[in-house]
Amino acid sequence: MSNERKLIITSGEKIVGDIIEKDGDFTFKYDDSWIGSKESFDMSPKIKKTLKIHSGNQIKNFLENLLPEGTIRKRIAENNKTDDKDIIKLLEITGRDAAGALQVYSEEDFKNLKYKSSEVHTISIDELATGIKREGSALNYITSVGLKPSLSGAQDKIACRYDKANKTISFPTNGGATTHILKPNSVARDTHHKLLELSALNELVSMRLAKKILSNVPSTCFYESTERDLFIVERYDRMVEKTDIKRIHQFDFCQYFGIGSADKYEVSNSGGSIGSYGIKKLLEAIRDKSEESLDVDSFLDWIIYNYLIENTDSHLKNISMISTGSGFKLAPYYDMTSVGFYRDGAIFLFDNHFAFLIGGVSKMNDIGDHHWTLLAKDLGLAQGIFLEKIKNMSIKISRDLPEVYNELKKEITNAKNLKGTEKILKYIGTSVKEKSYRCLINTKYKNIREKCLECDKALSTKTASKSVLGIGPECLMKIEK
Ligand SMILES: Nc1ncnc2c1ncn2[C@@H]1O[C@H](COP(=O)(O)OP(=O)(O)OP(=O)(O)O)[C@@H](O)[C@H]1O
Ligand SMILES: [Mg+2]
Repeated sequence: MSNERKLIITSGEKIVGDIIEKDGDFTFKYDDSWIGSKESFDMSPKIKKTLKIHSGNQIKNFLENLLPEGTIRKRIAENNKTDDKDIIKLLEITGRDAAGALQVYSEEDFKNLKYKSSEVHTISIDELATGIKREGSALNYITSVGLKPSLSGAQDKIACRYDKANKTISFPTNGGATTHILKPNSVARDTHHKLLELSALNELVSMRLAKKILSNVPSTCFYESTERDLFIVERYDRMVEKTDIKRIHQFDFCQYFGIGSADKYEVSNSGGSIGSYGIKKLLEAIRDKSEESLDVDSFLDWIIYNYLIENTDSHLKNISMISTGSGFKLAPYYDMTSVGFYRDGAIFLFDNHFAFLIGGVSKMNDIGDHHWTLLAKDLGLAQGIFLEKIKNMSIKISRDLPEVYNELKKEITNAKNLKGTEKILKYIGTSVKEKSYRCLINTKYKNIREKCLECDKALSTKTASKSVLGIGPECLMKIEK
């Protein structure tokens, strides 16, 4: 008896190819109809359709990276009485609406496939929040109503359609595309982890601020309820065309490099493990494979933004490329959170390591001007490029923080969340101030502290040393009141 297992991969109504797994070895074969189709794309720049058959870790890891991770993966495996290492079985369960355009089916499911299925299960967003609270997690909730989880990542989340005007959430029941990703706030295990309860709010604040600072960030919103708060982000890999929702192909950088999700960090949050894929390799890949010439600079901005707000979770699965039709470009930036904010409480939940080495170091407080200069040299860039970006972005963030606060004040009504918003913005403001001060104190920028670029007034030595370089304390203080 053959011990081969097979999966079919589709995109829209077309077959992309099939996967054969035998004794843990994976082979992917592009379908001839896909190779010949005008709308087809490469699965990734390293899995090109000019070569019909691909195998090895590049394929196995490409597929593994479509799966949820960590405890969420374990729970899905348990719920379905399967092994959490069984990529094929887990893809049969979760592969219908993964990130990007690819859909994965077992042979059996493919036979019964109805394209253009419009079946949806709709509930009010309040019912969803209550359901998540009742069941303990978003994953438990969707499982309890007979739906399937789909997205990668380690956090609890649901892919869905969100109708803001009618306050409803819909779940396609037969492989239809979703348009939003929704994450409930985390539940604190004990009082030391209390700040984690602001996780949905933290992502909202960090993403909203990012939308003002970085070139391309999706729209986000927040739903407050007494049960669970929900962070909601629009999917940039979906395009709504009248009644049709088109999927757009994307892949993350673990998929690009052909490594497993376990290797997504160059440096883990605890600093305990060091991987082999960092900024230099990412930059080479983007330079080489992106059709968008501004992507290299935009990528450097993404690094600096993550550094300044202490998003230490900017690993290789939190940056992706998306199909342009003729090739690929960087996808909009997602999953940004001030992780440092959680350390502001009574306990160090996370050691404070950046996800990438900067000039050989990763501990946040160790990174200074020297390391950014070393990194610039190593990348063959102008030596002062990162320091210039730190200066300009610090000023921009400090100016934009009050605006973000005013924007969010209109959307957030619950007193706890309003206070939380102030707290997160204040943390970010202080973090930016500290980092710009540390990185720029020894450079040519030190003189600009003497004068405020906002109002052109001379600053006293006391306020100057407290300010973000180049900007007077006034707008910073607005948020700190
Ligand atoms: N707005 C978006 N549009 C399209 N795809 C997205 C969007 N946000 C995230 N994704 C995709 O979904 C995956 C999971 O989302 P996300 O990174 O937010 O989850 P997470 O569980 O918080 O991740 P992590 O494990 O990094 O904590 C991402 O790796 C990316 O491929
Ligand atoms: Mg992520």
